[in-house]
Formats: sequence, C-alpha cells, structure tokens
Amino acid sequence: MKHLTTLSLDKSSIETILDNAARFKTELVISSKIGGRSLALCFFENSTRTRLSFELAAKKLGMLVIDLAPEHSSLSKGETIFDTLKTIESLGIDCAIIRCTENNLLDSFDDSLKIPIISGGQGIDDHPTQALLDAFTIKEIAIRSGKPLNELELCLVGDIKHSRVATSNIKVLSDLGVQLSICAPNQFRRSFDNDNIVYYDTLEEAADNSDILMALRIQKERLLESSTDILSAESIISEYRINHRLLESYKKLYIMHPGPINWGVELENGLQNHPRLLANRQVANGVFVRMATLEYFLSNQ
Ligand code: NCD
Repeated sequence: MKHLTTLSLDKSSIETILDNAARFKTELVISSKIGGRSLALCFFENSTRTRLSFELAAKKLGMLVIDLAPEHSSLSKGETIFDTLKTIESLGIDCAIIRCTENNLLDSFDDSLKIPIISGGQGIDDHPTQALLDAFTIKEIAIRSGKPLNELELCLVGDIKHSRVATSNIKVLSDLGVQLSICAPNQFRRSFDNDNIVYYDTLEEAADNSDILMALRIQKERLLESSTDILSAESIISEYRINHRLLESYKKLYIMHPGPINWGVELENGLQNHPRLLANRQVANGVFVRMATLEYFLSNQ
C-alpha cells in the first residue's frame, strides 16, 4: 500500500495499526522508528482535530512538521494540488497528509508521487484515520462491556448522505466484524455496497438494538442549497437528536461523535460531560492511532 485511503486499508493493516496504537497509548517512553523524518500538513479544507492530532502525533515521534497553509501557498496563483505535492516531494519531505473536497484525488496520483500521501479526509467518501480511531475506541468499549466486536452493534445517526466518516466507518468496522445500522431521515440516507446494514426509522428503534450510536452532524458545507434548506434540514433531523431522556432509558448505550459537534442539533445541550459520551475519548485516541499510522507508512521506507 502506497497512499492511505479507506479502500487501501485491508484487515491486516487495520489490525496492525490498532495494535501499535494500543502500544503507544501505554508506552511511558515513546519508542520511535521514524524520528527525524518530515511531514507536511496540507489541509485544503478546515480541520481542528485531524490537523492538530497529526501534528502532535508526528512531534511525539520526533518528526519535523511543516504546515503548507494553503491560503499562503501558490495554489492561489493557479498551481494544482498535484504540483504542490510534487514540490513537497522534491523538497525532500517524507510524507504528506492531505484534506480536500474532491473524491478519489489520492487514487489519481497513483505512482506519480513517490512519497506516501495519507488522506486526512477527502470528499464525502474517505476519512481513514477517523475510522481507525473510532475502531480503536469501539474496541475499548468492547473490552469494557465484555462483548467481542462481532457482538457489538453500532448505529450511524444523522446526515449519512454527505458524511465521509460514515463511509469510512462502514468499511473499517465491517472488516472488523462490528454489526452496522443506519438511522436517518430519507433525505440523509444513501445506500452502501454492504447487504448487512440494517436501517431504522426511529431513534428508539436504533437504541433498542444498538450498543453505540454514532451521531453525525449535518454537513452544511456540502448542502448546496440555501440557508432555508439548512434550517429545514435541522428541523427534520431534530427527531434524531440524542437527548438526556434517551440516555436515561438506555443505561448501557454509548454515544460517539467525530466532532465538530453542533450542540442542540445532533446532541442535546447539557450532555457535554455525560459519562457515556465518548467524543473526547475519540479525540484522545486519535493521537495514538495517528502515531501508529505514521509509523506504519514510514518505518519501511
Ligand atoms: C469530520 C471531518 O471534518 O471531516 N470530523 C473530523 O475529522 N473529526 C467530520 C465532520 O466534519 O463532521
């Protein structure tokens, strides 16, 4: 595997990365095989968690980190993303993380870039390291609940149609044997190439059958319509808002959210410190998973 996209991850690479992330989480003194190597952060779309945790992961491993800051780059002079990455490669930088709006951009680079390019989220179909950190967090919950992964059910709730997190999680979690379901209004559903996915109409139905609900925000930046459409989308999704009452009725139910959270839309306000909301744990685990991802891609180069 050269570049990291969700589709380039197979079960054995997923398991290796998750095992190494567990080692990084418990290691008191970090053992790095890639200290001194360099990494470019190329975020052509906004990001807080993914960008900062890749930067922190790389620095913990003793790597040199360079931020492209696209708004100050030659992209504004008409340079293409490919030429920008070729420049990064020619500078002698060892690896780049890229976040972009296009689908399948990394596939189009094929073998024309020698350094590995890791997707930090591309289009609506790809966010491999988010799926890996979610899988890592779900494995921790499986251990805590005393259930094997293939007995856990995770339901994706909200705007599935425009979510790269949904697509990547479906691929990675189904490879690991997690049972998957979707709970969303019709306008936010889409079909996946996976016959095992169950669809629920109501949040109660989803909670009855699931161990974990993963709430996904309305991807406003991908709704091309007007702000009235966004407001109507928010009111449609209100039936799917996870609230205190639901968590009181289902005492074993965990809630995940990749962030950014729109409080009062997908999660009721006041749930910020709920002990079964795993959003902060997901962020924390993201650093170890990204350390393991960087090591996986760079240690054999
Ligand atoms: C996702 C993203 O930004 O692509 N979040 C993340 O990386 N933690 C999902 C989202 O924007 O909703």
